Amino acid sequence: MIKEHYSGIKDVELGKGVKVVHPVNLYGCSLGDDSFVGPFVEIQKGVKIGNRTKIQSHSFICELVTIGEDCFVGHGVMFINDLFSTGAPAQGDKSLWKSTQIGNRVSIGSNATILPVIVCDNVVIGAGAVVTKNISEPGIYYGNPAKKRK
Ligand SMILES: CC(C)(COP(=O)(O)OP(=O)(O)OC[C@H]1O[C@@H](n2cnc3c(N)ncnc32)[C@H](O)[C@@H]1OP(=O)(O)O)[C@@H](O)C(=O)NCCC(=O)NCCS
Repeated sequence: MIKEHYSGIKDVELGKGVKVVHPVNLYGCSLGDDSFVGPFVEIQKGVKIGNRTKIQSHSFICELVTIGEDCFVGHGVMFINDLFSTGAPAQGDKSLWKSTQIGNRVSIGSNATILPVIVCDNVVIGAGAVVTKNISEPGIYYGNPAKKRK
């Protein structure tokens, strides 16, 4: 017997003028006024997306992530909350998960990976970057690991 779940929009707090392109899997999260979510995006429980922030197709935003206002999340951006800190996946033990906070006016290039970090306002993260450490100064960061380049 198969246990089936279907993607969709469930228990989502929606601001005014939100635009979503299906198919998406959004549950238990909140989307600010005039925000946008492209197709094939999953946004999990407890995530907060600020006003006017755009999430492009194929991105994954996991529990414990907060994204501010006027941000741009490119295509295929992956957020991470489980660092496999015990040498293996946390297997649902949320005490092992870590949070991420993205400030306002942060633009994240396509295919970037964001480990659990805090990113300040006014930051650009390049395509394909792997962000492993907090970013506390505005600027342009890219590479693996992402470093301030400009
Ligand atoms: C990071 C970024 C903002 C830098 O732009 P820029 O300041 O104009 O940088 P430049 O094009 O002048 O490149 C400077 C150097 O960095 C390198 N570089 C640029 N972007 C890079 C990236 N994402 N990762 C690794 N290296 C990068 C360039 O090859 C160049 O190297 P060189 O000095 O050895 O020649 C931009 O390249 C980028 O990745 N933008 C993301 C765009 C995106 O994903 N949009 C999504 C919607 S389509």
